Amino acid sequence: MNAVQDALDALCGETGVRRLTVEPGRDRRGNPEPVAPISFSAGDVVCIVGATGSGKSRLLEDIEWLAQGDTPTGRRVLVNGAAPDLSGRYSGTGRLVAQLSQNMNFVMDASVGEFLDLHAGSRGLTLDAARRGAIIDAANRLTGEALAADHQLTELSGGQSRALMIADTAMLSTSPIVLIDEIENAGIDRHQAIRLLQGEDKIVLVATHDPSLALLAPRRLVLAGGAIVDVRRRTPQEELLATRLATLDRLQERLRNDIRTGLSLDAYLSDPAVPTVPTAKENA
Ligand SMILES: Nc1ncnc2c1ncn2[C@@H]1O[C@H](COP(=O)(O)OP(=O)(O)OP(=O)(O)O)[C@@H](O)[C@H]1O
Ligand SMILES: [Mg+2]
Repeated sequence: MNAVQDALDALCGETGVRRLTVEPGRDRRGNPEPVAPISFSAGDVVCIVGATGSGKSRLLEDIEWLAQGDTPTGRRVLVNGAAPDLSGRYSGTGRLVAQLSQNMNFVMDASVGEFLDLHAGSRGLTLDAARRGAIIDAANRLTGEALAADHQLTELSGGQSRALMIADTAMLSTSPIVLIDEIENAGIDRHQAIRLLQGEDKIVLVATHDPSLALLAPRRLVLAGGAIVDVRRRTPQEELLATRLATLDRLQERLRNDIRTGLSLDAYLSDPAVPTVPTAKENA
């Protein structure tokens, strides 16, 4: 951990979240949730999967709210095995949880550099040029279109905004728990984003419909009918599958970039990464 982070931690008194535990509540029909309490430790990445409406976002909201039986699910969230001090629920600094959701955008009239300085300033810190540069570099590793300190926040693309938020959350936010709802379709390298957050020793929970992203995590919670119904550990076979899916992801990314740039995609027909099974139309 770097000096800035240490100083932030000291300031906000937030070191020491070693374990987060979700105690079961009720499903949407009021039946008990059929799982034992589930714990997460610093550095854990856990995915949350389940059909639309199964309760993934609700679970993230319970964690963000540090629910104490006071949400529709009746779940309780414990920090280091005990009910947390809830005074942080309402305050911007000192928060345990940072949430990144799909539709966040900057509405501030400031440059990228000014925003980072303000964010550090709100924690009583001054960012030196090297640290500011490191955060911007991290954001640029997540997105195809580079951003710079003098870019205006309001002019950033969706992908650039999200990349900056993720880098900022990983490197400047003191929140030890990061919740991500639906990171797909955001124009950023999602695998890299998860690694960046994980590297800062945070607990990262990601709700997703994407198998490739879900297999990044060694553990995944399966939701149905508003309840956690299973906790699956990634198998060695799934890990192998994940490396193959990563090849497909890279193919998609290349296609996306080329089509955005206005290029012809003809050459992809003979690209080794493109499946070669003829379509029904070709066979006809
Ligand atoms: N245990 C529960 N008890 C009561 N209401 C619940 C419970 N779990 C979820 N809900 C409610 O059900 C609705 C659908 O849940 P939610 O939005 O969390 O689904 P989701 O899995 O995130 O769906 P999507 O994949 O479409 O984002 C929400 O209104 C949520 O508050
Ligand atoms: Mg949702």
